[in-house]
Amino acid sequence: MDRSEATARLLCAVDTTDLDQARALAQQLTGHVGALKLGLEFFCAHGPDGISQVTDGKHGLFLDLKLHDIPNTVAGGLRGMAPIRPFLTTIHASGGPAMMRAAMAAAHDLGEARPKVVAVTMLTSMDDDDVEAVGMRGPVSDQVLRLADLVQACEVDGVVCSALETERLRKHCGEDFLLVVPGIRPAWAASDDQKRIMTPGEAMAGGASYLVVGRPITTADDPAAAADGISAEMAG
Ligand code: C5P
Repeated sequence: MDRSEATARLLCAVDTTDLDQARALAQQLTGHVGALKLGLEFFCAHGPDGISQVTDGKHGLFLDLKLHDIPNTVAGGLRGMAPIRPFLTTIHASGGPAMMRAAMAAAHDLGEARPKVVAVTMLTSMDDDDVEAVGMRGPVSDQVLRLADLVQACEVDGVVCSALETERLRKHCGEDFLLVVPGIRPAWAASDDQKRIMTPGEAMAGGASYLVVGRPITTADDPAAAADGISAEMAG
């Protein structure tokens, strides 16, 4: 993979509620990442307007709201995103088949430039005990595969998955399924609070479609240089 394709597959997680900080970071990263990931915290604080100020027509948007509600409401959420034009967004697989199909129908209604939709299978904050506590049968890894099958059957574009699940899911779900992978740490970065991590090269070799990287870029002295270092590792 060449460097520009690697850059296009690198998504930077902007995890702050500070609008000025997010805008400054976005400016520094112009041309160095494929898109910015803005999530629930930022969206609750600043709404669609704040998002547009950060992406500013220069960045693609991964809007990570992990929607989970009745089908009609999730479909309405997808349609409501139209003005800010995310290229990628998230729902919860555990919302079930009707919800996932409604989300995809709404996404398709947005036309050619529709957002791709990826589903969260199991939150990685949940361990085997948590899975049992909410009435599902563990272990987590079996649940992930079962839900990935359901996601695929509902013609959702892909899943968010941990780096360590990537290779297994790529084999299981085939080449056309998007795998969006956080928990990435380049060899030179601190692991922070991420426990199950992989390097960019390893994750790409395992079949990741997009890597989501936050702190190794956002807390670097030179975020653009950090992003370039990561895309170089992705390109191999
Ligand atoms: O700073 P860091 O690279 O750890 O940020 C990773 C991003 O991916 C954060 O926005 C985090 O919430 C998100 N994420 C994650 N692990 C998951 C799902 C999402 O780290 N399983």
